[in-house]
Amino acid sequence: MLKHQTIAVIGAGHMAGALIGGMIKSKLVPAKSIVAARRNAEALAELQKKWGVRTSTDNKKAAAGADIVILAVKPQMARKVMEELAGHITKGQLVVSVMAGITTASISKALRVDGPVVRAMPNTPCLVDAGATAIAAGVHAGERELKLAEAVFGAVGLVVTLPESALDAVTGLSGSGPVYIYMVIEAMIDGGVKMGIPRAVAAKLAAQTVFGAAKLVLETGKHPAVLKDEVTTPGGTAITAIHVLESKGLRSVLIDGVEAATKRSQELSKLFDS
Ligand SMILES: NC(=O)c1ccc[n+]([C@@H]2O[C@H](COP(=O)([O-])OP(=O)(O)OC[C@H]3O[C@@H](n4cnc5c(N)ncnc54)[C@H](OP(=O)(O)O)[C@@H]3O)[C@@H](O)[C@H]2O)c1
Repeated sequence: MLKHQTIAVIGAGHMAGALIGGMIKSKLVPAKSIVAARRNAEALAELQKKWGVRTSTDNKKAAAGADIVILAVKPQMARKVMEELAGHITKGQLVVSVMAGITTASISKALRVDGPVVRAMPNTPCLVDAGATAIAAGVHAGERELKLAEAVFGAVGLVVTLPESALDAVTGLSGSGPVYIYMVIEAMIDGGVKMGIPRAVAAKLAAQTVFGAAKLVLETGKHPAVLKDEVTTPGGTAITAIHVLESKGLRSVLIDGVEAATKRSQELSKLFDS
């Protein structure tokens, strides 16, 4: 799908670096078809050395003629960068944005172009090719554009397509979700240490347990409650722990966390347009 596309990445930082690496490692695009742009020339030289991509400190030059322009600067830099690119992006170019909280309508308006825009909400596990990304089409983007964006983010993990209105909830669930799980892992480590396991060993056991449980959910397709019931022996250790976790509100607190992060994402989205 991406083989004959040229791709400009504006704001070649952590997330963009993961996407560039993912596309090249999975041979979706030859390195010479990608041009990475940011202000720091040294960081660009490193990217060029690592992946063989072309680089530029000039966003307009980088974007000129590219089939796909990926916008990956921080949201607070978005207005400045889009003002700079306005008038230089054509209707024939697909704009893909990972900038949190900035709608496709705002992007089209800021770039002063009514071409296709696809918005994505990835998460940091993209850095280890285990990301979870939701993509959403703006009004001028269709199936073809969604397929192109799916190929980009598919190089670094799982991709789902949703209406744009769901992206704040995605931010609350999978966008911010790694943080919740780091807290769960940290707490499990402390539990292990409290019960006498050396910290370094407890850290490995806790992280691998989360990884393994997630893998089982994804690979078996079974409902998590079924997997839970399968390992809950009557009168055993798991059911004893489940009772404690339920009484302390583990599930409610996670639901509340997703809801709070979603609402905060909605608030931040409004700020950009105000
Ligand atoms: N990290 C995540 O988990 C995650 C998840 C979902 C969405 N996102 C979104 O991804 C975007 C990037 O996040 P990140 O974590 O990758 O941030 P990051 O590492 O700071 O990357 C942003 C890059 O933009 C470059 N930049 C800043 N001003 C620029 C300009 N005027 N022209 C060109 N490049 C410029 C910066 O490099 P220079 O200083 O060298 O210019 C920097 O490397 C954000 O919009 C964020 O909302 C991130």
